[in-house]
Amino acid sequence: MAGILAIDQGTTSTRAILFDTDLRPMARAQEEFAQHFPRSGWVEHDAGDLWDTTLSVCRAALEGQETPAAIGITNQRETVVVWDRETGTPIHNAIVWQDRRTAALCRQLREEGHEALLTERTGLLADPYFSGTKLKWLLDEVEGAREAAEAGRLAFGTVDSWLIWNLTEGRVHATDPTNACRTLLYDIHAGDWCPEICDLLGVPMAMLPEVRDTGGDFGETTLLGGRIPILGVAGDQQAATLGQACFRPGMVKSTYGTGCFALLNTGQTPVASKNRLLTTIAYRLDGKTTYALEGAIFIAGAVVQWLRDEMGVIGSAAETQALAEQADPNQEVVLVPAFTGLGAPYWSPESRGAAFGLTRGTGPAELARAALESVGYQTRDLLAAMEADWPDGEPSVLRVDGGMAASDWTMQFLADILGAPVDRPEFTETTALGAAWVAGMTAGLCPGMEAFEQRWHLDRRFEAQKDDGWRAAKYDGWRRAVRGVLAYDEAD
Ligand code: G3P
Repeated sequence: MAGILAIDQGTTSTRAILFDTDLRPMARAQEEFAQHFPRSGWVEHDAGDLWDTTLSVCRAALEGQETPAAIGITNQRETVVVWDRETGTPIHNAIVWQDRRTAALCRQLREEGHEALLTERTGLLADPYFSGTKLKWLLDEVEGAREAAEAGRLAFGTVDSWLIWNLTEGRVHATDPTNACRTLLYDIHAGDWCPEICDLLGVPMAMLPEVRDTGGDFGETTLLGGRIPILGVAGDQQAATLGQACFRPGMVKSTYGTGCFALLNTGQTPVASKNRLLTTIAYRLDGKTTYALEGAIFIAGAVVQWLRDEMGVIGSAAETQALAEQADPNQEVVLVPAFTGLGAPYWSPESRGAAFGLTRGTGPAELARAALESVGYQTRDLLAAMEADWPDGEPSVLRVDGGMAASDWTMQFLADILGAPVDRPEFTETTALGAAWVAGMTAGLCPGMEAFEQRWHLDRRFEAQKDDGWRAAKYDGWRRAVRGVLAYDEAD
């Protein structure tokens, strides 16, 4: 029987994986695309590249295969595309989630006392990470944009909407709640766009996409041979939550891609964070919304890319673990990789990275170890905030996935610094799996939640091997390093 095609449009590459109806991968293709850094702290993608690579990886994955029965889309979240409804042409490059250009505007929103409204309605904070202020920037800065938007000529979308629009050749302008809830424009309690916030940011509501269920009908495409319905859409971190079968309250997953994003399922209750986490939508199925608490870290896998591309201390990401193992155990080097600011729970967009504890003997091995350790420390920051916020006791065992989850050394360090077990599933491409499952389930081809949960299999459980004294001393070093970074920032 024909399978399900998952499109995973990420921050640095676009992938397509064709699954059979038992959710086993049958074919895949991947393409990287250019990153644009027009100024310090600015990050853009050519929206045309996002679409072109999508079309080409889908065609490559489907070569010689039967036409799939359904498509599921998952995507980098928060990234903003604005295009002309008539011509389908973007008015500007896509502004990427990592982009910090609206830091001053966010500070102004905080100083003017608007953050409480933003948090209450959207579960988010006044931080440049989210789409809303990026959209305001485009409307303010691109000549004629605001007038065109007010006249209904422009469409706004996160990357899922942009792909749906192109796949359906302009017939469908839609998104799902997991993407909508990252825009800073969506009321997660009312389940609709928020007129008050749109007014505050000067966003004409006519340009916003229609919000449909995560497992919903997003139209069909005829561009990939035959007519294929798009039946599932989810932001990549929520898709990974689905792929990890974190369906029950208290279940938590952490994905190590460019950044690291931990989501704790809180069930039908949106939990307001007292510890600077985000309240977000995990999924909406059959009209029922499931919420999550989320901790977002901007640099995880990207620190390994930095070691390779900027520092030149490794030739490939796979070498990092071996290098870290050679590090001098007597050197305590701490790296705070705040290259694009600090995310949860600090939210300091203007901070930049720093290394502490350097000596004459510090070399590539100590730097590599510090880079991998920084991922563990940041995850502990997030889980500590989750434990403090979660009213129903401790979250369950952490399920991990994403590229860095393949590193045994990093996962062992994570278990050691958390003082808790870490579970790695057999199949770690959970983002694409989640998108495929939700589309397959909507199509009636894949099992429902309970049966899907049963097919989650453990590859390895990492148990903590260090004692509390070791843990406290190491984590204290990290906290002091972060305080140093924040203090440097304040002194500016
Ligand atoms: O919120 C940003 C996130 O969706 C990006 O994920 O995997 O492309 O780094 P990734």
